[in-house]
Amino acid sequence: MLTDNPELYEARFPDTDRLAGRWAEDCLRRHGAGNRVLDIGCGTGRDAAHLHAAGRTVVAADLSEAMLAHARTHHPGPDYRRADLRDFDLREPGLHEEPFDAVVCLDSALLYCHTNAELDGFLASCRRSLAPGGLLVAEMRNGAYFLGRTDLLDAPAVHGFTWQGTTYTSTTTLSVDRTAQLLRRTRIWTADDGSPPYEQRSAWRLLFPQELRHLLAAHGFDALDLHDGPGPRTRPAWQEGDAPGGSADRDRLHLVARLTRDD
Ligand SMILES: C[S@@+](CC[C@H](N)C(=O)[O-])C[C@H]1O[C@@H](n2cnc3c(N)ncnc32)[C@H](O)[C@@H]1O
Repeated sequence: MLTDNPELYEARFPDTDRLAGRWAEDCLRRHGAGNRVLDIGCGTGRDAAHLHAAGRTVVAADLSEAMLAHARTHHPGPDYRRADLRDFDLREPGLHEEPFDAVVCLDSALLYCHTNAELDGFLASCRRSLAPGGLLVAEMRNGAYFLGRTDLLDAPAVHGFTWQGTTYTSTTTLSVDRTAQLLRRTRIWTADDGSPPYEQRSAWRLLFPQELRHLLAAHGFDALDLHDGPGPRTRPAWQEGDAPGGSADRDRLHLVARLTRDD
């Protein structure tokens, strides 16, 4: 529902201070990234537009046409394209011939790669897209958080908010599918405008820090930062000047990796 309704998505997950975009820009600067950035799984385009405003040349891609239409209208600047993050090549003769200096993938979009083959497809696509020494910057849930913890699984999370005069309530239930190594989510939406309840199902890969390091190395990347915060979705949230943390225990994972091998 939120993927089909970007305005509702931004109302439900406001980021008025552009914290995620600022954090991504800070990572790019700290590691001396060049100017050309690809934001893959860009959603409503908020972060891509922030990177554009920071002076970068940005191509931003998503699978959802609704997200892309919203992004083009509400967050202009980047070149918005439709692509599947599990297998993409956004370079185009005469338009985007140069490789990218960085690929950015925020708010767990990477975890829509459910299988090992899809993760390989994502990393192979990043490698194909990047210049030697290029960066991958990602932010996502941390699979390791669920080892020995059930606080996010024990009871449904209920969240209400009002948008354009209608009050929406989401009831979210999370469960771990150990066989597929997925975090499955069922979310039921109700609204006080008389519309019937709507059930949405999705899933994220439960990716563990050491597993991620191994996958990155197999695809020619060195993990420069891999930690649980501070970041744009941690509490307390990241602020300019904060250094990357040293553990990977809490529920968000922040990654900066460099493409060091391109054979
Ligand atoms: C949680 S949103 C994150 C959006 C944005 N990166 C942000 O941080 O606000 C995940 C996005 O991934 C997109 N997505 C899901 N599967 C995808 C795929 N296979 N290829 C490209 N985008 C995908 C969805 O359409 C959605 O816009």
